[in-house]
Amino acid sequence: MLPTDTGADTRADVAVVGTGVIGLATAWEAARRGLRVHLVGPCSGAHQGQASRAAGAMLAPFSEVAASDSPERVALEVGERVAARNLYDAWLPSLREATGRPLALTPGMWVVATTGGRGDARELDAIADAALGHGHVAERHDPGEVPGLSPARSCTAHGALWLPGEATVDSGELMAALTDALHAHAHVEWTDAEATGLRPSDGGGLTVTCAGAPGTPEVAAPRVVLAVGVGLTDLVAGSGELDLALPPMLAGKGVSALLRDVPVELPAAVRTPMRDFACGMHLVPRADGTVYLGATNRLSPSAAVRFPLVMELADLLREAGEELSTKLYEGQLVGTRVGYRPFTLDHLPLVGPTADPRVLIASGTYRNGMLLAPRLAEMIADHLTLDPVAAHPFDPTRPITPHALPETLERWLPELVDLFLPPSGTPTPMQGVLADLLHQSLRGLAADGDHPRGAEVRRTWQQAPVPEALWSLLVTYLR
Ligand code: GLY
Repeated sequence: MLPTDTGADTRADVAVVGTGVIGLATAWEAARRGLRVHLVGPCSGAHQGQASRAAGAMLAPFSEVAASDSPERVALEVGERVAARNLYDAWLPSLREATGRPLALTPGMWVVATTGGRGDARELDAIADAALGHGHVAERHDPGEVPGLSPARSCTAHGALWLPGEATVDSGELMAALTDALHAHAHVEWTDAEATGLRPSDGGGLTVTCAGAPGTPEVAAPRVVLAVGVGLTDLVAGSGELDLALPPMLAGKGVSALLRDVPVELPAAVRTPMRDFACGMHLVPRADGTVYLGATNRLSPSAAVRFPLVMELADLLREAGEELSTKLYEGQLVGTRVGYRPFTLDHLPLVGPTADPRVLIASGTYRNGMLLAPRLAEMIADHLTLDPVAAHPFDPTRPITPHALPETLERWLPELVDLFLPPSGTPTPMQGVLADLLHQSLRGLAADGDHPRGAEVRRTWQQAPVPEALWSLLVTYLR
């Protein structure tokens, strides 16, 4: 535990920067532990680009498992996700009590295997194993029993799994409840402004600077928690006097849609397994009768684009219709959202003190931010109030080994090929030929020191050495 009395000129014990679900949950948990919290970040506004408000909020410890994940990875990630899911059972009631909002979970998740995926039967096995291995139920069903499922004739469903231990929550309602709870809390002050950086202040504490006209308040605190998601790169750039030694934070752009008057009964969420570097298609029922439809995932060089590209929206609507329900096409499209999921090179979050112990980070939750929020909030509150804290796998100072391009090509090119040549049941010879061709071309280019596009491929890879970058490599190659 760090001393809270550093002599800084401040009333707050901690500043929490960022008003996505991780920032709000962390601020609330710290305040509930008796700390005086100064929250910094947009409270008003549309929040376009924020991952939390674009999320379907599937609380999915098991159905985000992929058959290709190593057993160690599954054990680590599922263990953390189960712990987070368990916290929800007390967290939502306390938010309900604090705010009077009728927040509720919609229990259960249907996962369907379709011919739109590469080996979905294997994916369902991996998901069922993960659930059963953690003492949870995974029931096999005939796809005909899945309420709301009615895929296109070109895309047959051939298996279904019911996971009663999973659930969904309305992300907009949850964010509204956290906002109310923080406004109502006597220990919380909220500066509704975008933070631009940190600098040391007299007395050993820190000052958070904010965007806006001269006179925009600065916030001083002895410790600061960064929960700014993909805004981390800019915030670190604006904190040049501090050495935080943070690893890169990448952005996975997600597009989702809200539909009304869809003529289907949808008592629980229905999803496919993971697909094409993303979490597959999912339909999530909301209490107001709308249906949430998610989601794309594309590595983005920046989070500047705040609206869906037409092709992203077209892909989302078409794929969800084909794989899950053509009835979606009869609904009204009442809104779209864009959210940039923050993720690290090892795809695990960063949680805890940085190289500068006054600065903590809580971010990098990628596709599981809504689920992990109460867990990360507890971890950060522990770091702020306990000494020592229980060990966890998300230490931001851990060594992170970048992926190597040859192995990544070997492992992931079939997924990239699926984007061009969607599989129908089993991979076709054409897919194998295309994968081989791309493999040879990209490897050859990356190794060819003289080829001008080779340099560009290597530069693209150095900036983001993760499987999700293969799409950008291909674009570089084809240019
Ligand atoms: N886990 C759902 C998503 O990231 O879209």
